[in-house]
Amino acid sequence: MTQPNTFKIIAMDGGAAVGKSSTSRGLAERLNLMHVDTGAHYRTLTYALLRAGADPANPEKATAALAHLKLDTALEDRSAKLSIDGTVPADADIRSPEVNAAVSGFAALPPLRTFLFEYQRSQADIARAKGFDGLIMEGRDIGSVIFPDADHRFFLHADEATRSARRAQEGQTDSIATRDQMDTTRKTAPLICPEGAIKIDTAPRTLEEVIETITRIIQP
Ligand code: DC
Repeated sequence: MTQPNTFKIIAMDGGAAVGKSSTSRGLAERLNLMHVDTGAHYRTLTYALLRAGADPANPEKATAALAHLKLDTALEDRSAKLSIDGTVPADADIRSPEVNAAVSGFAALPPLRTFLFEYQRSQADIARAKGFDGLIMEGRDIGSVIFPDADHRFFLHADEATRSARRAQEGQTDSIATRDQMDTTRKTAPLICPEGAIKIDTAPRTLEEVIETITRIIQP
């Protein structure tokens, strides 16, 4: 008898610092899911492109530089990380003020998004092959573009003061409002709440409460 297909794909979208990563990691732990942070994909590419001398204002040079990058996946605990030319850059490098300032500009370039599309979709096969019960992928366009066919789609949001306070607590300098403005207004795959996604305000809830709310929806 064939086993029922219980493998689940969960899309977790939202703006900067709404709590996507902590929530996704917590859910991955609780539900035996593989976790993928696609914001880290854009950050990793931004880091590599800046090192190659590319600039978001010069799309031709950035697109040409992409052709030289070899993408792969490295599993660290439950999180699948993007490696470039065999290396996963350090967190401090992909979350630096330089990368924060350039990432939305690069992420708005259609060739860069196309470059990542198949790679991001292929993460579901890796999660299956590694024996996880599902995949949780966080980003801006997961429920709208990458996995519109996901089993569950969530959209997290919070007021700006709460989000800035969270980043400050992490010791990070981040222009949340500017990035959100660029991510929401770009032409390709803008940050939107996909139709049918469940919206959750994380400001009045603790992390545990958000994880609990979502777990009950996934496993009623
Ligand atoms: O989640 P984050 O703040 O680390 O994401 C960094 C940037 O990457 C964000 O400002 C926009 C871009 N991004 C994107 O365009 N699409 C995604 N699916 C994820 C992130």
